[in-house]
Amino acid sequence: MVMRAKGIPQQAGQTAKPGAGKPIAVLVVHGPNLNLLGEREPEVYGRTRLTDIDKALKQLGRELEMKVETFQSNSEGAIVDRIQQARGKSEVLIINPGAYTHTSVAIRDAILAVGVPVIEVHLSNVYKREPFRHHSTIADVAHGRILGFGAESYRLALRAARSIIEASRVEASRTRSV
Ligand code: DQA
Repeated sequence: MVMRAKGIPQQAGQTAKPGAGKPIAVLVVHGPNLNLLGEREPEVYGRTRLTDIDKALKQLGRELEMKVETFQSNSEGAIVDRIQQARGKSEVLIINPGAYTHTSVAIRDAILAVGVPVIEVHLSNVYKREPFRHHSTIADVAHGRILGFGAESYRLALRAARSIIEASRVEASRTRSV
């Protein structure tokens, strides 16, 4: 398990304010082979299906006043297109790029182009696995990374996404009132 965060500072004593603003728009992107979750190497990735992960994220999103959109593709270009479409629409991106984590400069560049905070998610703890999985092309441009908790990694990421955006909204309203 690794949890790491950088970028926007935490606000001391800050509490979330449900209902204080419009729902936080979050895009969740799943990369290649994640459509097979539940069937694919369940000893590594667990038995939860992607449709159930997405359903749980949308439900949790309603509780946290977040509008959750989900997207899965096995194609790098389609993932890049979907990330680009999030420009000006999504406030935060949660992404598990699957195997593209270890190879894709195009996904990294799309993330940089969109300019919203990104949370990198993995079901498995990639550092307990083969060395080629230890490198991520997006690790240093992500706000933080959550990995090794199975399907729970995504729910933790959604809660983290809410904290990041709440903190930036508080900061923005503080700046406006100065
Ligand atoms: C993964 C880890 C990747 O190395 C692998 O290629 C995946 C899933 C994970 O969620 O643990 O497809 O991103």
